[in-house]
Amino acid sequence: MSSVSNGNSNGSFKMPDIKIKFTKLFINGQFVDSISGKTFESRDPRTGEVTARIAEGEKADVDLAVKAAREAFDHGVWPRMSGYERGRIMSKFADLIDENVEELAALDSLDAGKLFSHGKLMDIPGVSRVLRYYAGAADKIHGETLKCSQQCQGYTLKEPIGVVGHIVPWNYPSTILFFKVSPALAAGCTMVVKPAEQTPLSALYYAHLAKQAGIPDGVLNVVTGFGPTAGAAIASHMEIDKVSFTGSTEVGRAVMEAAARSNLKSVSLELGGKCPLIIFDDADVDMAVNLARVASFLNKGEVCVAGSRIYVQEGIYNEFVKKAAESAKTWVVGDPFDPHVNQGPQVDKAQFEKVLQYIEDGKREGATLLTGGKPCGDQGYYIEPTIFTDVKDHMLIAQDEIFGPVMSLMKFKTIEEAIEKANNTKYGLAAGIVTKDLNTANRVSRSIRAGIIWINCYFAFDADCPFGGFKMSGFGRDMGLDALDKYLHVKSVVTPLYDSPWL
Ligand code: NAI
Ligand code: MG
Repeated sequence: MSSVSNGNSNGSFKMPDIKIKFTKLFINGQFVDSISGKTFESRDPRTGEVTARIAEGEKADVDLAVKAAREAFDHGVWPRMSGYERGRIMSKFADLIDENVEELAALDSLDAGKLFSHGKLMDIPGVSRVLRYYAGAADKIHGETLKCSQQCQGYTLKEPIGVVGHIVPWNYPSTILFFKVSPALAAGCTMVVKPAEQTPLSALYYAHLAKQAGIPDGVLNVVTGFGPTAGAAIASHMEIDKVSFTGSTEVGRAVMEAAARSNLKSVSLELGGKCPLIIFDDADVDMAVNLARVASFLNKGEVCVAGSRIYVQEGIYNEFVKKAAESAKTWVVGDPFDPHVNQGPQVDKAQFEKVLQYIEDGKREGATLLTGGKPCGDQGYYIEPTIFTDVKDHMLIAQDEIFGPVMSLMKFKTIEEAIEKANNTKYGLAAGIVTKDLNTANRVSRSIRAGIIWINCYFAFDADCPFGGFKMSGFGRDMGLDALDKYLHVKSVVTPLYDSPWL
């Protein structure tokens, strides 16, 4: 097909049969039109064509969803049932997701241009795994006993924080949704979810499955719509107790400001990164090239933890550059439903143009374009896997989150220099290290200011592995037992041991 830039896809594959069943807001257990009756277009990034019209939720719809979530929290069964029972329902939810893997993966491919094969093998099965992890945690939430002093004793209770607003981005519409929804459900919270306007389809499907699993009405509401309207209404809502946001730094700041100006709701932010992958002289060069290719180009580079700054030690630099250029040529760009393809289209026209602009900035600032750099195909938002060499730390392509298939290659001499360069960013989300030397791996791991460090691997995620930012990558952790804390209040209960004059 015309959009394949290189590699061995012949363009013949069978498309799954995709039916878009859910296009309305999900409020209090029902699919409903928006109050205004407005809809917006969901587009296929393979062609730019409209695939569905989705109900456009705004402030009034968020108000309704919050009302339902508030009622379900203040008077409903979900926060009051046993953790065991919540876990049982969450497990059922996970089973239903497993039964619908193909359909869910297809919706994310259609909305976001994500590889269908990855959706089926990783994203959607990963979602049910995360749900089951927190289903298992739901009956293990407990506090501590407090000795206090000689006159009293106490204990802490961990209570659900209340109504949560989850604002979700488009790059991992399923995965990030469940990073947020799963621990919040386990904690006993109720919630309003706003998927990204680019990728509303799977969230509505999940809402349908949640109801089928037995999650009570009002516990999980989905309001599709735009950021400045529906998203902003969540951030500033007086009846929402916590907002969990993943997206751009700029909007993260606006969410925090809105929270501060309204009811001082608790906020957690995951704001992307500019993650370094540091490759030392003792690395197996072929393995390192392959890892760097995946780190930079997976999911067309639309990954908050993308390893987009590749630092290679001088002894293997030239060999690495040569092999990296060769390996980019066998990375197949094309239709995300084609099983031979490695990279689909960027999510939408705006991101496509933004990435191409960064490539122009790289050239203008004096970096050398080693390979790629152009759109490919005659329709849709495809971009060639792109590698720059001679990148300097101050350049835009070394500082900004591009969110596209662009690798910046840089050379270093010493371990001290590598650490300094890796930390020379406003972000701190993730980092990778490739070395066979344990001392080097340990030293670099402890010196890099980032929330997750991968040694001789990349993108190794697990439900049990907390994930989140240092510095301007945000704060608060998704996944692991740490994520439960975002959705829990700690209450201390104190009682006297015996009559005391000051008690
Ligand atoms: P964005 O931050 O605008 O969108 C993320 C979510 O926030 C969406 O659901 C959006 O509707 C919502 N939103 C937008 N404005 C809002 C507001 N004023 N109040 C409340 N919610 C609001 O991200 P965008 O514009 O789609 O992408 C721009 C860049 O952000 C990307 O190129 C990438 O660098 C970064 N990004 C980082 C992500 C991450 O995983 N950390 C995910 C998506 C984008
Ligand atoms: Mg935006």
